[in-house]
Amino acid sequence: MLFSRMTQERTVYPEEQESFLGPPSTTPAKLATRKALLVTLGVIVLIAAITAAITVPLFLLYGGTPDNRPSYTFDDMFNQKFSYKGFSARWISDEDYLYRDEDGAVLTKNVRTNMTTVLMDNTTFTEYDAFDYRVSPDMQYVLLSYNYRKVFRHSFTANCLIYDVQGSVVTAWIPYDDVQYAAWAPVGHKLVFVYKNNLYLKTDFSGNDSQPITTDGMEGVIFNGVPDWVYEEEVFSTDHTIWWSSDGNLLAFAKFNDTQVPIMSFSHYGETQYPRIMDIHYPKAGRTNPTVSLHMVDTTNPAFPTQEVPAPAGFSEIYLYIVSWASNSQLYTNWIPRPQNTSIVNICDVTQTPISCTMIDYQESTTGWIGVFGPSFPMFIEGGSKYLIIQPHEEGSGAGKFRHLCLRTITQGAEATREWLTTGQLKSPVS
Ligand SMILES: *[C@@H]1O[C@H](CO)[C@@H](O)[C@H](O)[C@H]1NC(C)=O
Ligand SMILES: *[C@@H]1O[C@H](CO)[C@@H](O)[C@H](O)[C@H]1NC(C)=O
Ligand SMILES: *[C@@H]1O[C@H](CO)[C@@H](O)[C@H](O)[C@H]1NC(C)=O
Ligand SMILES: *[C@@H]1O[C@H](CO)[C@@H](O)[C@H](O)[C@H]1NC(C)=O
Ligand SMILES: *[C@@H]1O[C@H](CO)[C@@H](O)[C@H](O)[C@H]1NC(C)=O
Repeated sequence: MLFSRMTQERTVYPEEQESFLGPPSTTPAKLATRKALLVTLGVIVLIAAITAAITVPLFLLYGGTPDNRPSYTFDDMFNQKFSYKGFSARWISDEDYLYRDEDGAVLTKNVRTNMTTVLMDNTTFTEYDAFDYRVSPDMQYVLLSYNYRKVFRHSFTANCLIYDVQGSVVTAWIPYDDVQYAAWAPVGHKLVFVYKNNLYLKTDFSGNDSQPITTDGMEGVIFNGVPDWVYEEEVFSTDHTIWWSSDGNLLAFAKFNDTQVPIMSFSHYGETQYPRIMDIHYPKAGRTNPTVSLHMVDTTNPAFPTQEVPAPAGFSEIYLYIVSWASNSQLYTNWIPRPQNTSIVNICDVTQTPISCTMIDYQESTTGWIGVFGPSFPMFIEGGSKYLIIQPHEEGSGAGKFRHLCLRTITQGAEATREWLTTGQLKSPVS
């Protein structure tokens, strides 16, 4: 119906043109003028027709009433008013996951039955304006974090409280501002946290007390369980250097000592109008690096006996790159001497005192760094006796090495055997 109205209006115009132009003439000059006039008028008519074609339907649609719809403002570009809604689920078993509903309550959902159970309503979340929650593996407690304050790329500090699921109450706090890290052990409800570069363990939630695991932490200088700037940014890309054995008994953690690392001062442009001067231990080329050591603590013993996990001997400067539990008694450690063109992997038997390690893999690069950004991560299978890893494979006939999947089997006191699961020349060789 709209369309027919439009065509009708368009056909009205030519008739009006005729009357405006007057009677036809016969001289060539007059003919040319008339032609030009006709073309000009044709263009005008076309523009008018297009304008009508647009305005008429708009008028009919909105009836000329004012448009009361909210407009998209400059601030809306940044305030996420029109952004999509995310959904975040955390698996807690093969069939159940944790999520927060629209009201902000924490629920568990079983994917087989669709049954949901409210673990915690939104009251405490709202009261403290919490930004994160972590449910203990035994589902008895929820760790809530609030007062987020960013530090570097991955690190931040926060305040933390513990909510008792059974009693639906806040039962304890970590009574410090600026907690650097807090997380549950993989089983039960053991909480480990880092404050002022020291590690603490909390197992009793009837009050605020906790037990220190380390005491030598010093802000900006000695770091326990959290990386210094170099390791956070350049090696681990995380805010913590803590690795629990899967039974939740043993805890491996890295300690960094930045005493000898020169200090760099720079302006930090934060929330305030004037920048703040920040000092960080920052090793430029050829200057002293932070030193790293790896330690293991038995959290089942209240005295927290701690042992050092030895680094490969004979290197004045070495980086710790990867720590992973192969089993509850064996720790996989990957170290890289400072030139970063060799990589050493040890398997350490943590049941021995002192802890003893054997080298199971040694890699060399003749063209540059080990790996792409570092060595690959192992994926342990069969109780820790074998692992899958991506490593360079020599393709022969001068083709070079290519990254392939390898199954490695740990044998007592020797290099882990290799079984290449993929081979072949890929796009480009690696070092
Ligand atoms: C909290 O949940 C209730 C429903 O249980 C809801 O009415 C309320 O809006 C929620 N509060 C916030 C701040 O989301
Ligand atoms: C669970 O919910 C999904 C999606 O609504 C539905 O397709 C499925 O049939 C439900 N399963 C059961 C057991 O009710
Ligand atoms: C526990 O810590 C919180 C937060 O710092 C504090 O408000 C509360 O009084 C403390 N409780 C006890 C029993 O000390
Ligand atoms: C850190 O290293 C310095 C020497 O650079 C040493 O004197 C100090 O004892 C070390 N601190 C710790 C806690 O290891
Ligand atoms: C690794 O780099 C260092 C320093 O450049 C060099 O001395 C050494 O020979 C290199 N090792 C290998 C295996 O290329």
